[in-house]
Amino acid sequence: MSTVFEMNHPLIQHKLSLIRDKNTGSKEFRELVKEVSMLLAYEVTRDLSLEEVEIETPICKTKTKMLSGRKLGIVPILRAGLGMVDGFLNLLPAAKVGHIGLYRDPETLEPVEYYCKLPTDINERDLIVCDPMLATGGSANAAIQFLKDRGAESIRLVCLIGCPEGIAAVQAAHPDVNIYIASIDEKLNDHAYIVPGLGDAGDRLFGTK
Ligand code: PRP
Ligand code: URA
Repeated sequence: MSTVFEMNHPLIQHKLSLIRDKNTGSKEFRELVKEVSMLLAYEVTRDLSLEEVEIETPICKTKTKMLSGRKLGIVPILRAGLGMVDGFLNLLPAAKVGHIGLYRDPETLEPVEYYCKLPTDINERDLIVCDPMLATGGSANAAIQFLKDRGAESIRLVCLIGCPEGIAAVQAAHPDVNIYIASIDEKLNDHAYIVPGLGDAGDRLFGTK
């Protein structure tokens, strides 16, 4: 069974409250999603491996630590996952970015794929799938399966807001994928929106409806 990390750092919780507020407009919403994503990136990369290297400071030679191990890949689920990419890239500028386009069919609630462009070496990378919302888990599960079918071996999922239903669905389908989330909300409503949630993440990010 995978591990779920609920990242309740005070800065994350404060900014998330502003993001949830229905009076927060798209410009501020985008800025806040980027800021929270940067904070999440800090937490999500806590277990990256380090190696000892020798460098020379202006004072003397010394042994110090730098990142080693697998390279990173960031994979936003379009559209709303796009809002998280810049925050991640601010901290992980060498990461490559792949895109998976999925939308949730409003009738069936099943994810429908419409775009995919991935780095060629995803099998050699630690992949961070990002999407602000984990509702039924259908979109996250489809994206993760998509990556596995193309050779991905190491995947973690990062979301702003989820609910018990979505977390259980991802854990059941992908027990090897750890989930990093800023808030686990109460439940899904009859339209499979997260309660209390933040509404439709894509619409709020891009000002559509
Ligand atoms: C939203 C959200 C997730 C998905 C979550 O995307 O960004 O991808 O719904 O729901 P699920 O867990 O039930 O699959 P949406 O389908 O609204 O597309 P958009 O990002 O283009 O707005
Ligand atoms: N997608 C969203 O954008 N919000 C939800 O609450 C559920 C799915």
